[in-house]
Amino acid sequence: MKKIALIGANGQLGTDIVKVFSRDHFFQVISLTTKEIDITDENKTKKVLEEIKPDLVVNTAAFHRVNDIEDNPEPAFLVNVVAEKKLAELCFKNDWKLAFFSTDYVFGQDGKRKKPYSEEDCPGPISTYGVSKLAGEYVTRLTTPKHFILRMCGLFGVVGSLGKGGNFVEMMIKLGKEKGEVRVVNDQICTPTYTKNVAENLLALFKTSHYGLYHMTAEGQCSWYEFACAIFKLMKMDVRCTPVSSQEYNSRAKYPPYSVLENAKLKKLGLNKMRDWKENLTLYLKEKEYLK
Ligand SMILES: NC(=O)c1ccc[n+]([C@@H]2O[C@H](COP(=O)([O-])OP(=O)(O)OC[C@H]3O[C@@H](n4cnc5c(N)ncnc54)[C@H](OP(=O)(O)O)[C@@H]3O)[C@@H](O)[C@H]2O)c1
Repeated sequence: MKKIALIGANGQLGTDIVKVFSRDHFFQVISLTTKEIDITDENKTKKVLEEIKPDLVVNTAAFHRVNDIEDNPEPAFLVNVVAEKKLAELCFKNDWKLAFFSTDYVFGQDGKRKKPYSEEDCPGPISTYGVSKLAGEYVTRLTTPKHFILRMCGLFGVVGSLGKGGNFVEMMIKLGKEKGEVRVVNDQICTPTYTKNVAENLLALFKTSHYGLYHMTAEGQCSWYEFACAIFKLMKMDVRCTPVSSQEYNSRAKYPPYSVLENAKLKKLGLNKMRDWKENLTLYLKEKEYLK
């Protein structure tokens, strides 16, 4: 059995990794929450991981409050870059593999883009969060060759994102119930992705030695407005859903107008297990017992 040290084990993605990997006997997952490990504390991190002696370190920790980072980038760079660099050095020294999670927000500079981005496309973030995650990718690549870098998009999972305070699906259901109407941006196209499906795909990928950069998002694409409409339709909720432009929100961070990712490398290796976003949404709503 291979040992995984899972950092951020009670986060949105971490929770589903624990659940999905426990059904398989290839990996033993050692769950680490912020009680056991703070990756910005280099000495403690070293001590905890050297006791575990993992084969693979899976780092789901992130500082990802995208708007707050525009005002104060320091905590994001500490967690997403500096701590990741130290972790990568430790992994390299001990010959442990390392997995780091990145984002579709490493793209966005090509405002006219209408074609999904593959791993070969040159990144160009338009938010400070995106810059920090891209830097996190690069320090990982520079430091340790046995790495998996996984680019995610619009994650939703049963526990909701701890770092962001929930997930989009739950926010829509709550607003729909309370107000009966929502206004949702219709000019940001991406692919919201169910963390359970990501965990299933990670399980397949981590059994291999195909290191490198991967896009791992659901198939298809939609705007957040279309996603919200699909939630209300499946939930049979009578909610007035109005499309609005990003400008109306006047948010501090800029968001890519189009950041659909193609899982090109997973497909090439015959390892793409990602489902269509609509199918995943139905599975999520069933898991939350909103649907039978
Ligand atoms: N959520 C999205 O839509 C999205 C989109 C694209 C990419 N991603 C990336 O995917 C990954 C997983 O996201 P997620 O939604 O599962 O996030 P999440 O729910 O916020 O989980 C992150 C976990 O990391 C822990 N953590 C934070 N800072 C830490 C530190 N300094 N040391 C150790 N642990 C720390 C958090 O613990 P506490 O709660 O105790 O602080 C939490 O358990 C992240 O790298 C994120 O950037 C997410």
